[in-house]
Amino acid sequence: MVFETNSGKETKKLGEILARELVKIKTEKTALVLAFSGELGAGKTTFVQGLAKGLGIKEKIKSPTFLIVKNYKLKTKNHKLFIHIDAYRLKKPKDILSLGWREMSGDQKNIIVIEWAKHIAKILPAHHIDISFKHISENKRKIEFRLES
Ligand SMILES: Nc1ncnc2c1ncn2[C@@H]1O[C@H](COP(=O)(O)OP(=O)(O)OP(=O)(O)O)[C@@H](O)[C@H]1O
Ligand SMILES: [Mg+2]
Repeated sequence: MVFETNSGKETKKLGEILARELVKIKTEKTALVLAFSGELGAGKTTFVQGLAKGLGIKEKIKSPTFLIVKNYKLKTKNHKLFIHIDAYRLKKPKDILSLGWREMSGDQKNIIVIEWAKHIAKILPAHHIDISFKHISENKRKIEFRLES
């Protein structure tokens, strides 16, 4: 599925709409993983802000660039944690293991979004949702969803 947005606000809205679908999904054995790709400023964090809003998270979302991982509690029926990862500074997939990756990715109650997911592509669960962000012009972005299995 491909979308085009014409502002940060529209990208947030798209994230919010996706959130309403994600809460209905029950995965088996692994977390629900969204793997984001796209260059600096492509709109990944903006989209996450919309997702978080749609999931009922009140806190302000920023890229956890220095923390790498940030958790938010969820009150939805199928999930209990929303985990936002910024893999930009990770050099090897292994670097995420020491941050508790096995435990978080193995819990079906977690929704995990990963900015710069290609940095840890090798250790992503086989089933996940790829979301790619393309900078078209100052305010236009192409956002593509793809199911990987
Ligand atoms: N259609 C659009 N969608 C998303 N963001 C847009 C759009 N048009 C303009 N912008 C602006 O582009 C910027 C996107 O920044 P954002 O932090 O979301 O990017 P990012 O992909 O997370 O970058 P990084 O890799 O540095 O974390 C914001 O300042 C946002 O307002
Ligand atoms: Mg970001």
